[in-house]
Amino acid sequence: MKITSSGKGLSEITEDVLIVPVFEGDTPREGSLAALDHLTGGQIAELFAEGDFDCKRDRSVFLRNGGARAVKRLLLYGGGSADSLDSLSVQRLAGGAMRLLADRGVRTAAFLLSEKLDGATSAQAIVEGAMLGQMSCGLYRTIDRPKSQVEELVLVRESAGEMHLDRAIEVGRCMAEAANFARSLGFEPSNIMTPTELARRAREMAEREGLGCEVLDENEMKSLGMGALLAVSRGSQEPAQLIVISYEPEDGGRDARAPRSDLIALVGKGITFDSGGISIKPADKMEEMKYDMGGGAAVIGAMQAIAKLKPSVPVMGVIPAAENLPSGRAVKPGDVVRSLSGKTIEVVNTDAEGRLVLCDAITYAISRGAKVIVDAATLTGACVIALGEARAAVMGTDQRLIDELISAGEQCGERLWQMPFDDDYGEMIRSDIADIKNIGNRTGGSITGGWFLKHFAGEVPWAHMDIAGTAWTEVEKPYIARGATGFGARLMANFVMNRAASS
Ligand code: BES
Ligand code: ZN
Ligand code: ZN
Repeated sequence: MKITSSGKGLSEITEDVLIVPVFEGDTPREGSLAALDHLTGGQIAELFAEGDFDCKRDRSVFLRNGGARAVKRLLLYGGGSADSLDSLSVQRLAGGAMRLLADRGVRTAAFLLSEKLDGATSAQAIVEGAMLGQMSCGLYRTIDRPKSQVEELVLVRESAGEMHLDRAIEVGRCMAEAANFARSLGFEPSNIMTPTELARRAREMAEREGLGCEVLDENEMKSLGMGALLAVSRGSQEPAQLIVISYEPEDGGRDARAPRSDLIALVGKGITFDSGGISIKPADKMEEMKYDMGGGAAVIGAMQAIAKLKPSVPVMGVIPAAENLPSGRAVKPGDVVRSLSGKTIEVVNTDAEGRLVLCDAITYAISRGAKVIVDAATLTGACVIALGEARAAVMGTDQRLIDELISAGEQCGERLWQMPFDDDYGEMIRSDIADIKNIGNRTGGSITGGWFLKHFAGEVPWAHMDIAGTAWTEVEKPYIARGATGFGARLMANFVMNRAASS
């Protein structure tokens, strides 16, 4: 989709449809609505007077402009209350309106940046919402293919201020492409999206964007001693892959081999299918476990955005990718494995596999010089029960880092909620036979999952995001298709950009 901005007047708009966001309390007597009311011969005032349109969220009505000049159709789209306008609500408004237009086969649209949506932040949110809303998932349909997409979007500014929106549009596009790339990986079924295929897609992106990419195979992992990661892939015919993507800022003079004091590691769970292994899951909803690589996908997406936005800090993406299946070779409940860190783990439940692959990835990141670690993982069903689809859990060892992640998330509408992280939770995963066991009891499941990882982060500032509830949307929304959401890609890219800007 081509996206531009323009300062043209209302009567000069030539796109197929003009999207007009309206909020509770707006009246056709003032501002842009008054001008549009005039343009459409009083239709808006009539609609409002007769109570046919009430501006609530996702209400919509098409109007025709009978006049000879300018846009033929207007779409009034309800944005709800303007008091709580943030990036997320603006994205949802734009996404909802654009999905509606795509369904109708509209080719070109203009979006009116009314008084309440003026400025760079809104423009970026509109671009992100529009691009996320446009993506559909009928990848393998041969009949009843998904509808067409809007080809062109123009953001129309009324107040012909001098401020340019080009940068905001560009950043919004980078962010939306990162999220949509992550979503496209998450939508893929596990017979296509194997660990090997995930590595191939990551490498393809890295080569395109000028990032470094190394993929460690099972032999290499074995000789390093990644016994926890390899325990997970044992039951599968698909070999595990450790995907490492690296970004180096361009700053002349510096010796690229010198150790950096600021290397950020983004680590993402890449389980391409989670059957539970020998501790097998019930059949109901098991098909959804193809998106158990949502954390890894988010890291790959974030690395793409980082490559384009070029922050001044080095970043390493680490994605431990594996498939969790039962077989005669699979790891069994009660087995003890030795992790890369040297710590021994009692595998009490083979369905708690995410932490097994992540702990070796975290140790690996530290061995490569990571000075701060953020991980994203669809780690626990307990997190879904606790927080639902609206927020992901965050916990960790460094409050400043956690605060940075929370605000990076607020910035792009990927909301986090901090969990308590007292020592009491850590005691729940003590093992009799080994250093640690991979599950606690049924209580506090998301936190004990985090505590398991904490043992491997050690002294390195670390935070963990459990995105089990937010990586997938169960129902179709007006602003986004059902399925993978790409949650975390924009959040992590924002986090890195903010860090770079403040260092
Ligand atoms: N991938 C699942 C977690 C999950 C559940 C993600 C639902 C998305 C939606 C994870 O590997 C898992 O199975 N966790 C177990 C942990 C338990 C055995 C301690 C769980 O949550 O039941
Ligand atoms: Zn599992
Ligand atoms: Zn899992």
